[in-house]
Amino acid sequence: METHIYKSTIELITAIADFFVQIAQDSIAARGEFDVALSGGKSPKILYKKLASLEYKKQVDWNKVNFFFADERYVPANDPQNNAKMVRELLFAPLNIPASRIFAVDTSLPPEKAAEEYTAQIVSHFSGKEYEFDLILLGLGENAHTASLFPYTNVLNDSSVSAQSVFLKQQNTYRITMTAPLINQARNIAFLVYGKPKAEAVYHVLEGEYDFEKYPAQLIIPEQGNLHWYLDKDAASLLHNKMQE
Ligand code: 6PG
Repeated sequence: METHIYKSTIELITAIADFFVQIAQDSIAARGEFDVALSGGKSPKILYKKLASLEYKKQVDWNKVNFFFADERYVPANDPQNNAKMVRELLFAPLNIPASRIFAVDTSLPPEKAAEEYTAQIVSHFSGKEYEFDLILLGLGENAHTASLFPYTNVLNDSSVSAQSVFLKQQNTYRITMTAPLINQARNIAFLVYGKPKAEAVYHVLEGEYDFEKYPAQLIIPEQGNLHWYLDKDAASLLHNKMQE
């Protein structure tokens, strides 16, 4: 695991954008395509804007990128809470990504069916090969959830390599999420976390006692791939081991 800590959010976002570009270029050079799963929420919005900017746009052959989602909120496709809608506006539309390269969760289906159908999209995309994403981008909630692996939910104990639906009692809503075993098959996993309110969760996940029911992001340990944590100094402020870049 590598932890990268930056003085400012701007430096952090530039570093993870450069990392994204590097993995994209290497994957395309090695296998002809780049399979990436994105996260939702607020934190990655500035990263997506940066990737769509003139400077970054020209660094990747975007027609060779296949986009998936680590998780999705169970709301209609045009709802402001929908992760794919957010990414469509900030990244896919500005970069003219063809619909055939976007693998989104169909939230018009019942939750379990939506998860099954999304798993089927993944299975068919990798057709017979291991479900190894080149890169999975993740965020971290203040309660140490990642993707939609929330504390004390059944999906935390799901050992299948798939996407599953999960009901969140506190929010009275469903989500569709990749399971930890699916995420852990990735060649590269990168967490993007910044801001003081995330500091405790970062500390518990990285240096606290192991308790995945309470701190689900602890489940993210790639089988063979690389794990990177991209943090700003505020999110890293409670860590004991911190080497700032
Ligand atoms: C989502 C996510 C989720 C997110 C964290 C952090 O759909 O909300 O994919 O796992 O990464 O909740 O979200 P913020 O960046 O908004 O704090």
